[in-house]
Amino acid sequence: MKTRVVMVDAERPDPQAIAEAAAVIRAGGLVAFPTETVYGLGAHALDAAAVGRLFEVKERPATDPLIVHLAHIGQLGQVAAEVPPAARALALAFWAGPLTLVLPKKPVVPDVVTAGRPTVAVRVPSHRVARALMETCGAPVAAPSANRFSRPSSTRAGHVLSELDGRIDLVLDGGLTPIGVESTIVDCTVSPPVLLRPGGVTREALLAHIPDLVVGGRMARADSPQRAPGQLARHYAPAARMTLFEGAPAAVQARLATEARTLVAQGHRVGILAPAEDVLALAPELAAHAASGRVRLQAYGRRATPGTAAAALFDALRALDEEGPDVMLAAGIGAEGLGAAVRDRLLRAAEGRIVNV
Ligand code: TXA
Ligand code: MG
Repeated sequence: MKTRVVMVDAERPDPQAIAEAAAVIRAGGLVAFPTETVYGLGAHALDAAAVGRLFEVKERPATDPLIVHLAHIGQLGQVAAEVPPAARALALAFWAGPLTLVLPKKPVVPDVVTAGRPTVAVRVPSHRVARALMETCGAPVAAPSANRFSRPSSTRAGHVLSELDGRIDLVLDGGLTPIGVESTIVDCTVSPPVLLRPGGVTREALLAHIPDLVVGGRMARADSPQRAPGQLARHYAPAARMTLFEGAPAAVQARLATEARTLVAQGHRVGILAPAEDVLALAPELAAHAASGRVRLQAYGRRATPGTAAAALFDALRALDEEGPDVMLAAGIGAEGLGAAVRDRLLRAAEGRIVNV
């Protein structure tokens, strides 16, 4: 299959391009498109065969359910059997935007979408290209992140093509996705609701609306990695084995320099993924190794502004991966605001290997 790439303006997408993409989805095809979080790979959510192909091209296990994307809150009744008060409050506060709500599903939603569960994950994206696509389709669109299973999500059309070229019909290239980490997921089928995945809407913002929100599930597991290092499912993973270092910036920088020197002495090629401050501090110390190609430093945003780290994370991770190091060392940025989502992704990329410095 030949994958077509169509450029679209992120603010004012050409209706012709959107109409073409919507026609592909309505005909059962697969279209990658930008959202405010990451690129999604869309299929008609009520077309079980199209959704089945989506799982195939991603090599995604059928046990992992998909998020259904809507053009606006008014379509919620098409897929959700019930909207509890907490879900209503969150939808009104954060849609259109990077929040996914898990709700009881309507029978019309195929089992393949929800992995056989009685619930459906739903969100209304705010990105103009995504909204225009959903509106023109006139149907809910099931869309996982546009990457092969277990790989980092895509924040550029180039990332999508590097893994899915020839497997999907169309990519709408709307440039870099602004938030850079996936949506926050809240399970609203239980009371009080449970935060399942940290993402583009911060826990702090959610708590302002749902004070008794339970921060459980995946977050609780991710926060106790030392009890079971290497036990986290492989996700967002680079080819190289990664370890995450956390602690006071100066201590982390010193530790990274020591680790890198030791690894180089053992013959490894080392990739370092760190906030810009750390990269600046480490560059002079590791200059000789950088010059010989044994160490590659890659910055991802700044500690003081977690939003910059979120926006740069997957692009930086993929860029470093492409340099071909066999070991990766990552420096974390704390868990305030969007930092929580960044930490969650780094922890999973490291399969739970974390060192507190
Ligand atoms: O920002 C995002 O959410 C992006 C863009 C494209 O919208 N999508 C995304 O999809 O990250 P994906 O498939 O990579 O992640 C969806 C997550 C999975 O971890 C899945 O287990 C969870 O949503 N999920 C989907 N349906 C669920 C359900 N019924 N109950 C609990 N979790 C669910
Ligand atoms: Mg994904």
